Amino acid sequence: MSSIDYKSEIKRLKESLDVTVVAHFYQRDEVFEMADITGDSLELARKCKADPKEWVIFCGVGFMGQSVKIIAPQKRVLMPKVACCAMARMIDSSYYDDTIKWIKEHGVEPDELMPITYINSDATVKAKVGEMGGMVCTSSNAVKIIKQALQSGKKIFFVPDRCLGQNIANMMGLKSCIAGKKDCDPKEADIICFDGFCSVHQLFTVDDVEFYRQKYPDIKIAVHPECDPRVVEVADFSGSTSQLIKYVASLDKDQKVAVGTEYNLVQRMREENTFVLSSTKPECPTMNETTLQDLYYTLKSIEDNKPINEIFVDENVTHYANLALERMLAIK
Ligand code: 13P
Ligand code: SF4
Repeated sequence: MSSIDYKSEIKRLKESLDVTVVAHFYQRDEVFEMADITGDSLELARKCKADPKEWVIFCGVGFMGQSVKIIAPQKRVLMPKVACCAMARMIDSSYYDDTIKWIKEHGVEPDELMPITYINSDATVKAKVGEMGGMVCTSSNAVKIIKQALQSGKKIFFVPDRCLGQNIANMMGLKSCIAGKKDCDPKEADIICFDGFCSVHQLFTVDDVEFYRQKYPDIKIAVHPECDPRVVEVADFSGSTSQLIKYVASLDKDQKVAVGTEYNLVQRMREENTFVLSSTKPECPTMNETTLQDLYYTLKSIEDNKPINEIFVDENVTHYANLALERMLAIK
């Protein structure tokens, strides 16, 4: 058994070092409690960029730490665990190129496409998008970003999350399809989606919604837009993690609500009338990899002048990925 009191050691190290600890809402409670900055993906990117400290310790998944390094290259970014979001792993540069090729073979030229990548993607994919004149979006600003992108008069090539892409299309009354599928005709679609998804948010089903509605006829259903479009369609509210928190907090105290997003966040929301919209525990395995012990050792590595798990991004990739991220950040 270790005799280190991780919580007090983390607090001591935070006071003595020029460091900011950042955590996404899906982090374990004990890690989340140690954070100076919390938020959804967009808020984390904005707050980290504005933060004056030299060191950032990012408790989240790989693309989040990478994005901070790209938009604030002067910072030293460490991650207690460089855990890779399962959805972000579904696309790389060659899948990206192959999909553009498939779209071309089906009648739409690359210069007729405006690419948008969900922030849940690797820097190399963001760079491809940036080089083609496209932008990043997050779950909280996707509608705004797509509206802006459509002003180019081009079709949207949306990667990697087919659910977010289709949900936005449904909300905006646009036509969407999934590249590579038999029923997808890119010539007919406004938004052509890459076939990626979040395995955690696929756990929520229309049956779950029906189960709760039967049990509590007045219940509200709030879900993340990474959920299947059929689930989002029957929900009362869909939004980013921060937007879900605000929505649940805005409800009357006795209003029952079932929430379709990651388990750590739902548990942290108002307990009594808040249910998890799944019979299976919807935990994000990669978000849950980071422990208090990891956070302590990462901070200690700065004190010992031997930083661990530092995030570096290739210069050329940084240049183009930054274009895609900055185009998004410029849209308020
Ligand atoms: P948010 O931007 O809503 O925090 O989402 C991040 C994420 O990975 C959801 O699965
Ligand atoms: Fe990635 Fe899904 Fe985990 Fe979010 S919940 S970090 S999209 S695997």
